Amino acid sequence: MEFDQAVREILNRADIVRLVSEYVQLRKNGQHLWGLCPMHAEKTPSFSVNPSRRMYYCFGCHRGGNAITFLSEVAGLTKREAIERLAAETGVQLPQQRPSDPAEEAAARERSEIMKALVVAQEYFVSSLYAPEGERARDYLSDRGVDEQTAAAYGLGFGGVGGGLIRMLEKRGVPMQIAESAGLVLPSTRGTGYYERFRGRVICPVFNNDGAAVAFSARILPGDDDGPKYLNSPETAVFRKGSMVFGLYQARQAIRQSRHAIVVEGNFDVISLAASGVLNVVAPLGTALTPQQVRQLARFAGRVTLFFDGDEAGYKASRRSVSILLEEGVEGYIVSTPSGEDPDSMARRGGRQAIEAAVADARPMVTWLVDSLVGVFGRSPHGIRQVIEEVSGVLAAEKDRIRYGLYREEVARILGMDVRELKGILGGRQTDVPGRGPEVPNSVEVSMLKLLALSPALIDTLLDRGGREYFQSEEAIAVLNRMFDLYASGGDLEGELLAAVSEQGSVMSAVASVITMPTGISDVQAAFDETFLQLRIAFLNRRLNELKQAMRGAVDEDAKMRLLVDVTAVERQLKEAGPSLWRFRGTL
Ligand code: CTP
Ligand code: MN
Repeated sequence: MEFDQAVREILNRADIVRLVSEYVQLRKNGQHLWGLCPMHAEKTPSFSVNPSRRMYYCFGCHRGGNAITFLSEVAGLTKREAIERLAAETGVQLPQQRPSDPAEEAAARERSEIMKALVVAQEYFVSSLYAPEGERARDYLSDRGVDEQTAAAYGLGFGGVGGGLIRMLEKRGVPMQIAESAGLVLPSTRGTGYYERFRGRVICPVFNNDGAAVAFSARILPGDDDGPKYLNSPETAVFRKGSMVFGLYQARQAIRQSRHAIVVEGNFDVISLAASGVLNVVAPLGTALTPQQVRQLARFAGRVTLFFDGDEAGYKASRRSVSILLEEGVEGYIVSTPSGEDPDSMARRGGRQAIEAAVADARPMVTWLVDSLVGVFGRSPHGIRQVIEEVSGVLAAEKDRIRYGLYREEVARILGMDVRELKGILGGRQTDVPGRGPEVPNSVEVSMLKLLALSPALIDTLLDRGGREYFQSEEAIAVLNRMFDLYASGGDLEGELLAAVSEQGSVMSAVASVITMPTGISDVQAAFDETFLQLRIAFLNRRLNELKQAMRGAVDEDAKMRLLVDVTAVERQLKEAGPSLWRFRGTL
């Protein structure tokens, strides 16, 4: 109640005209002010602000509301964040919301302490860059053409030579255990104390929507050989890797204005393009583009152009991203980056013009995909059939029937097929595609491992739910353990999987294939839940058989009784677990 009152007070005090004017050029016409809508692309103003009612409304996209909804829509904040920001601006005191749950309260307190530690760290990194010890990092940045203005805009820093961050954290009263939870320090491997995770590296902070650094992506300096090229913050209470986009905070104004986001692979591609004057550019933090990341972009952009490296990895990443863009209803384009180039090298050589030309040349994603698959499989009957299989898996992600039909026509055109004939194939369900091989033993285990490869955070879920014991094959268990180790230690899981692709016939390579090909699976969580169920059912069935066998062999009545209780329990669990839909079987 108190809270609602505070919100009303905020809305009374907030100056909606001034707020909107930060994003839209407004002109007075009659009682209202008018401008180009920041929420959709348009050439004539249909976005209006009514100052007396403190509301806005767009006659084009029919979205409207008050200062709070405006901030959350346009600045991409949650409602709560928008309220907090406006409360601070209008000087309204928000009543302390008492989270009823003490665990929740403790978690909130930890998050806020972690945020404080991160502020200290970000300040330290930036000051280290400009301190004498930051000279190598400064030289490195200037060698890469990163000017000071760009470095400042991206909050770039230097990790220091070790020791300084810990001293500063201590001076500011940040407990080391919080610094550890924030991903800044690690317990020292020998003896006591802590060491600084990012020391000696160039720091690229990852900002949240409020411009606060929530994670760091730290690049090694040339000549150093202390670990991998990048070290990233682990997932923390304030950082979920798969849902953050590097550079979005800096790019969102430009993305909103153009309704267009360019996605590149590397942090330094983002920084380099920004330095050359292309500002609507972001990168997915080293993972494959996730649905959550695309959703972040889709709040500002209707169109997304993938501008990945001109190598095998970039090409595969593009292919894998198509189904995600389709699924999220985003209009996707793909740049065919010349072999051996990346956006950074192209920007360094040809400047903004070269980047704009490459982006203007980008092809619509489905056209690009079919063309590139034809390039891989060829136009022989076998090749074309393979292409159709791959494409049908991807197109399954398109939920809109009209677009689906148009894509089908496009595919038919490129393949030189009659669209009706293609319709006969594509129109059916994905699992109806003929020619899938017989199921190998343990296919559910392999499917599960593939899902974990697609979304490593699910490894935790699997283990939490006791899924490890559901695995039967020793090789599958070995792969699961390996994946878990890499995931838990923040190692390069994807790199290892990619390296295994060429190992003929191993389980690891079968699993890895999933990240090199589009799967058409949009809802990995749903696929996971279902596959988990399948694993569990198979496990319970095995257990049941064992028990029944044991019962037949049991001699004394007591043992028989105990086994009967077990059998009944397992049978009940089985009944609860089934029936499964086997929905994702054809896709994995
Ligand atoms: N990455 C990572 N861990 C690694 C390698 C890469 O997290 N060991 C992530 C980083 O976010 C990196 C992105 O993957 O920015 C792309 O990798 P890469 O192309 O190697 O890095 P760039 O940023 O392009 O760096 P550079 O231009 O200096 O090679
Ligand atoms: Mn790169």
